[in-house]
Amino acid sequence: MAVIYHSNYGHTQRVAEAIVTGARQQLPETQAKAVDVNDVDWDFLDQADLLVFGSAVYMGSVTAGFKTFMDATSKRWYHGKWQGKWAAGFANSGGLSGDKLAVLQQICLYSMQHGMNWIGLPLKPTGHEPHDLNRLSSNLGLMSQSLDGPPEETPGVGDIDTAIWFGDHLAKTIIKHQPTS
Ligand SMILES: Cc1cc2nc3c(=O)[nH]c(=O)nc-3n(C[C@H](O)[C@H](O)[C@H](O)COP(=O)(O)O)c2cc1C
Repeated sequence: MAVIYHSNYGHTQRVAEAIVTGARQQLPETQAKAVDVNDVDWDFLDQADLLVFGSAVYMGSVTAGFKTFMDATSKRWYHGKWQGKWAAGFANSGGLSGDKLAVLQQICLYSMQHGMNWIGLPLKPTGHEPHDLNRLSSNLGLMSQSLDGPPEETPGVGDIDTAIWFGDHLAKTIIKHQPTS
């Protein structure tokens, strides 16, 4: 499982790492990795069963850095290299909404172009306070909010715990559907 992200200031990276932490509750450490779009291990991505894509929201869209990564995969699209893999997504931004849904939709559509199978976030919000799980009530993928402050402080505990829950859920899903030989 690879968690591919773009983060200029570290907040989206923290979310990516929390997803990996959750996944490692189910998978050996070497089988779940965060991958920065500026330093892509293409072999790891090509061998992974699940690709989780995440971006900070810039002007209602994925960042330019994440889009560069998307476009760099067009040859893989042409050859159907990622067809049948699992996919999931996350979006982090400063606003409460911040148009994160547009980014999740963009990432989902990108995954559909690659012929991948999307996994959403089937978690009912426990409330809308900072410590609550899925307080932003997203189901297409994970949303998190980073306010002014360093990545160690924001996104807050509820959003980070939701990311850990999501990683754990994703790993369980791929394990459950592993073909038996
Ligand atoms: C050029 C630019 C555009 C942005 N556009 C949005 C936006 O559309 N919606 C939003 O909620 N936040 C927006 N933000 C705020 C970022 O999403 C926020 O700072 C986020 O924490 C960046 O994540 P990072 O630390 O991983 O880079 C924007 C920031 C920049 C610099």
